[in-house]
Amino acid sequence: MELLDGKMVSLTIKDELRREVQRLLDSGKRPPHLAVILVGDDPASRTYVKGKLQSCEYVGFSSTLKRLPASITEEELLHQVRRFNDDPDVDGIIVQMPLPDHITPQRVTQTILPSKDVDGFHPVNVGLMTLNFPCLMPATPSGILELLDRYNIPTKGKHCVVVGRSRIVGRPTSIMMSRGGQPGEATVTLCHKFTPPEMLRQLCPLADIVIVAVGKPNLITADMIKEGAVVIDVGINRVEDPTRKAGFRLVGDVAFDEVSQKASFITPVPGGVGPMTVSILLRNTLEGYLRHHHALGDFAPSKEPNE
Ligand code: GUN
Repeated sequence: MELLDGKMVSLTIKDELRREVQRLLDSGKRPPHLAVILVGDDPASRTYVKGKLQSCEYVGFSSTLKRLPASITEEELLHQVRRFNDDPDVDGIIVQMPLPDHITPQRVTQTILPSKDVDGFHPVNVGLMTLNFPCLMPATPSGILELLDRYNIPTKGKHCVVVGRSRIVGRPTSIMMSRGGQPGEATVTLCHKFTPPEMLRQLCPLADIVIVAVGKPNLITADMIKEGAVVIDVGINRVEDPTRKAGFRLVGDVAFDEVSQKASFITPVPGGVGPMTVSILLRNTLEGYLRHHHALGDFAPSKEPNE
């Protein structure tokens, strides 16, 4: 078994970005700028946002954090998004999810300018991604594919079971694994909360690659994994642990100790997919920046996509 070391790969990507920023500065240009909106004070969201801002600093991007109270109206939040849309010095915008119940996340997502949508959640980007045209792609699915790529794990013709159909991870991952390109070209089965548990138990052992993004500790056990399968665990769950200073520890959706006995490659939690999300987000911000500065041109499709 080999660990898919997202922490290490993520650092490699951040170092690549850092060099890129230095080149921009050397040629007299300003660095890329990421704007982050955090609504309310959910502890996990605060931790993620802190990580994103620290990573911006590491690679040399400028960043702005706009903290808004959980009581903010949807209209006020949209107004803040539009201000960042209109600001020529902002290249990427993220609104950290989840949002309070009185705000419709889709309305927020659709307000962000597609060219600044570094989360890749806007319907325009989702459509372009689905059709395999150049676009800003969602960070966590891209991070998963990047890990598969950097570890030279073949995906073409393989059977990939994705568990979880969220807009942020499961659904886009299922599309990216099945569409053309490397990584891609896999036969994909998408399981979700309406997949009967006995069906999930039948399907997972058929998979060469299992990608789980549900949020349920120990959902995937060793009996559900084929010998030599690749296992990607996107879950980040807090479980009580009085021996830790924080009172909790982080576990994924996969029973790591037993599954790692059978898997050929597996992501740890923490240190697997999580850090990849952050570094891809930064890479997307650089991409948005280069497009704004016309170094890369617009997202208009230039050639027939590879199905
Ligand atoms: N919440 C959990 N994952 C994400 C993400 O990738 N982007 C944003 N904006 N919020 C999240």
